[in-house]
Amino acid sequence: MAQTPKRRILITSALPYINGIKHLGNLAGSMLPADVFARFQRLRGHDVLYICATDEHGTPAELAAQQAGMDVRAYCDQQHDIQRAAGAGFDLSYDWFGRSSSPQNARLTQHFANALEARGLIEERISKQVYSHDDGRFLPDRYVEGTCPHCDYDKARGDQCDQCGRLLDPVDLKNPYSAVSGGTQIEIRDTAHLFLRQSELQDTLRDWVEGATDWPPLARSIALKWLDEGLRDRAITRDLHWGVPVIGPDGTPRPGFENKVFYVWFDAPIEYIAATEEWAEATGSDWQSWWRRDKGADDVEYVEFMGKDNVAFHTVSFPVTLLGSGEPWKTVDRLKAFNWVTWYGGKFSTSHRRGVFMDQALELLPSDYWRWYLMANAPEGSDAAFTWEGFQAAINSDLANVLGNFVNRITKYTASKFDGALPAEGTPGEDEAWIETEIRTRLSQLTAHYEAMEFRKAAAETRAIWAAGNEYLTRAAPWVKFKTDRAAAAVGVRTGLNLVALFARIAQPLIPATAARLLDALQIPDADRSWPDPDRFEGLDLLPEGHPISPPPVLFMKLEDATVADWSDQFGGAPAD
Ligand code: MF3
Ligand code: ZN
Repeated sequence: MAQTPKRRILITSALPYINGIKHLGNLAGSMLPADVFARFQRLRGHDVLYICATDEHGTPAELAAQQAGMDVRAYCDQQHDIQRAAGAGFDLSYDWFGRSSSPQNARLTQHFANALEARGLIEERISKQVYSHDDGRFLPDRYVEGTCPHCDYDKARGDQCDQCGRLLDPVDLKNPYSAVSGGTQIEIRDTAHLFLRQSELQDTLRDWVEGATDWPPLARSIALKWLDEGLRDRAITRDLHWGVPVIGPDGTPRPGFENKVFYVWFDAPIEYIAATEEWAEATGSDWQSWWRRDKGADDVEYVEFMGKDNVAFHTVSFPVTLLGSGEPWKTVDRLKAFNWVTWYGGKFSTSHRRGVFMDQALELLPSDYWRWYLMANAPEGSDAAFTWEGFQAAINSDLANVLGNFVNRITKYTASKFDGALPAEGTPGEDEAWIETEIRTRLSQLTAHYEAMEFRKAAAETRAIWAAGNEYLTRAAPWVKFKTDRAAAAVGVRTGLNLVALFARIAQPLIPATAARLLDALQIPDADRSWPDPDRFEGLDLLPEGHPISPPPVLFMKLEDATVADWSDQFGGAPAD
């Protein structure tokens, strides 16, 4: 059998911020689709490396630790474990879930800064920054509040006024105060920072973007818009303690930068590479063959998953770091950006008890229920609202009825009428020809949707294949034929059982736990669990004659109205009218 050549696919999903467990919308907008894609490509037999990590630096982490009364590293240790456990609970199949606070990332971040400097792309500049005497620290612009000079709103942030929408500079605010402590002893101080001269790399970046053929139009237009406006030099250091220290090429702290660290958005994407190093060290693997084009990474396909607010960082800032270094680093080939999952059209909010967070979700139901709904309603073309009504309908219809009942019906029937063994009698006829053609066509569409990273379409096609199976059983009606023609009934049962095996195989990317339970119940060996190749579809005869069949336990429970009403009370539901 001709083999499709093995591809090497590097997958990253945007690194979740360390402070606080993520909600279902965060999950649906990067980590979950990346996992689904990784699983699909592994089933296709490709060499996949799926990397993620927690994004641990920056002021929000420092302040969250302070609020929790914890040392910031201890706080990050704790939150990292919580996020790791939530990811495992959702069956996110990371090859590595790293930490941007790792020594590997510190070294690599310093390496990039020094490489950029050696190429004349780093410059020290003095800028003005808000210092709060009450907090004893510099504050990022958005942590200073005061009265808007334009509209007199008294809670305008130093970067933007939420009432009139104007962009602000903290020096513009009247009566400024610290949003952290409320303190009013605010001073604007001069401070030195390292600036990355992005303007110098305008042409390099434009050539690179124009050569990127495999980006969705939205990503390309965001990148080109930045280029058209002209890349601006940006500060890559901050006056903070928690972060990657600024160490020069000689290995010692850079004079004047002893109390500064790199900006979190400078070091976070570098962690994609550093986390691969963490993985390589832990597993005795080679990370360079994934990232260095001079070490074999030229044949890697690098795919990034992220929310739409992250696109500019991944199409402009991070590539500037990589290309500006002058070293042969692998850059992104394909990227997939998502809109938002909303909670009934609004924001998820812990304080307003609106929305379900990852840890809470797993207390209500196993992960496959959520995975299915979130991917069937992926926020691809536009934002997508989570609603309990939509969730209930998807679970009850797609999972419990279309898939669950099919499996239940045919396996129980085999157990009771065919001694729990795959029957061999009878010859396939018209109905079997129909379902085979149907499957063949749909399977190639499904495969194409996955290759195109169209997750909604992939879920819809998966469901359509399950539904076609139901229609087949209605047509073939083995239970009717059984009374008069056992051999004809046997054909229907045999085909139905093979459909169960196929349904489970194609369900693996979306609902891996259930698919595994089903494949286990059917005693399908690992070697037969791969993705069915649409170009060499083997037909519906995977299971050998006499193969033992025992009905699996109920796959999905139906969600009762009362349960859903309860959850709406607890986590917010449709606004009362
Ligand atoms: N933590 C950021 C967010 O949640 C994403 C960081 S992605 C990386 O928006 F590229 F910086 F790693
Ligand atoms: Zn205003």
